[in-house]
Amino acid sequence: MTSMPEKRVFSSKLLSCLIAISMFFLILSCSLIFRIGNNSLVPRSIYNLIVVDHGSIEPKSSPCKELCSQSQPIQRAAASCDPNQAILKVYMYDLPREFHFGLLGWIGDPTRLWPNVGNFSKIPRYPGGLNLQHSIEYWLTLDLLSSNMRNVPRSCTAILVHNSSQADIVFVPFFSSLSYNRFSKIEGTGNKSTNDILQERLVEYLKGRDEWKRFGGKDHLIMAHHPNSMLIARWKLGSAMFVLSDFGRYSNQIANVDKDVIAPYKHVVRTIDAKKSPSFEERPTLVYFQGAIYRKDGGVIRQELYYLLKDEKDVHFTFGSAVGGGIRKASTGMAASKFCLNIAGDTPSSNRLFDAIVSHCVPVIISDEIELPYEDVLDYSKFSIFVRASDACKNGYLMNLLRGINREKWTEMWDRLKQIAPHFEYQYPSRPGDAVDMIWKAVSRKVSTLHYKAHKKNRYNMSQQFLNSH
Ligand SMILES: *[C@@H]1O[C@H](CO)[C@@H](O)[C@H](O)[C@H]1NC(C)=O
Ligand SMILES: *[C@@H]1O[C@H](CO)[C@@H](O)[C@H](O)[C@H]1NC(C)=O
Ligand SMILES: *[C@@H]1O[C@H](CO)[C@@H](O)[C@H](O)[C@H]1NC(C)=O
Ligand SMILES: *[C@@H]1O[C@H](CO)[C@@H](O)[C@H](O)[C@H]1NC(C)=O
Repeated sequence: MTSMPEKRVFSSKLLSCLIAISMFFLILSCSLIFRIGNNSLVPRSIYNLIVVDHGSIEPKSSPCKELCSQSQPIQRAAASCDPNQAILKVYMYDLPREFHFGLLGWIGDPTRLWPNVGNFSKIPRYPGGLNLQHSIEYWLTLDLLSSNMRNVPRSCTAILVHNSSQADIVFVPFFSSLSYNRFSKIEGTGNKSTNDILQERLVEYLKGRDEWKRFGGKDHLIMAHHPNSMLIARWKLGSAMFVLSDFGRYSNQIANVDKDVIAPYKHVVRTIDAKKSPSFEERPTLVYFQGAIYRKDGGVIRQELYYLLKDEKDVHFTFGSAVGGGIRKASTGMAASKFCLNIAGDTPSSNRLFDAIVSHCVPVIISDEIELPYEDVLDYSKFSIFVRASDACKNGYLMNLLRGINREKWTEMWDRLKQIAPHFEYQYPSRPGDAVDMIWKAVSRKVSTLHYKAHKKNRYNMSQQFLNSH
């Protein structure tokens, strides 16, 4: 009675072996689902855990490495992107390549206007460093180009259509931020820079198009993320919908929150894995700020805060640029801090906020004029602290406030940060809920408003026609 019969031992071994094998297949099939990228099958919480790509198109760091190097198209990805199911149908102008990938030095096949985005090794890279923070133009364009590719698994929010009368929005693929950053110098004997010339040509091109004339450009999407991009053209194209970082350098007629979309900067520090994010106790610095000093516009507050905070305990407050080693320092600095300051500089917004978010360092936003990406669907107060500039400059106000936030309250915000951080990732291919996907959705909400206004205008047309004909 004490020892088990031989047979039962054997069968229980067999049973556990079978369980192990079936577990193996279960895990294997799960990972296949991820690779196919049909994320509707993947629960949100699990999806959040696997977002590790940092806006890269490196096949090495891409989850679809195997997929994209396969020569056979994946039916499943194609089937999931039916134009009739997409939220946003986009028509894209075939602008000459000097407006987009030509600015990246792309030579490629001279007969093609666009790079083959189905082959990762053929996609031209966007210049690194601080250029990248305004690279929104690049990620949105790549995403559209891939929307008709069968072998690129992606979110199916926006899709490219080839008939402009079927489109919700007309996309203008001008890399205006790169054009400003790289081509603003006047070359040779002329008195204009390439950036000026491209903008003039763009205005001329758009004003001549039937698509523009149809709604006076209102249904056109123009990307101008760098605050100084489109400096000339913005005055002539103000009816269009802009993708911007903020409204700091725009007049209210040209750009406003009713018609335009605010997009996040692409963060420059590395994303912290949500599972490995340092907790309250593991972040020794209470308050972190690193940035440039500004003397003009709203930037004076940085200096005032510096004198208020510089001698406080557990506060890291330094002025310095974020290039080169600065980015690495900011990465480790933010990950070791509980609160990260975002103080208005020469513009209301900066990439620092998005660096803080992906570092899961609770942002303290001191910028009265700031506009935030997708704020209509995202409540920033759940994971950030807003302080009016006038309050922040009161002696002791800020430190009392932040020292008063206990572990429990901080951890609540930190948990929320870990959940929402994927909304601020730019990557190719795009995935459900990432920055590219969120921007398309924000655009589609603006398109609804556009349609609403247009329809309302039509209300009395029938009666008017009737009156006129009698
Ligand atoms: C992608 O491009 C590279 C470089 O031109 C080429 O060697 C490779 O065969 C291409 N892959 C596919 C799947 O076409
Ligand atoms: C584009 O779509 C419109 C409306 O759906 C249709 O009338 C027109 O024939 C289409 N044009 C082409 C070139 O297919
Ligand atoms: C550039 O030169 C042209 C012709 O010489 C002149 O008409 C124009 O005003 C100049 N533009 C600027 C910005 O100086
Ligand atoms: C209806 O009338 C308004 C105002 O007169 C005009 O702006 C609009 O274009 C008209 N709509 C159509 C469909 O003709």
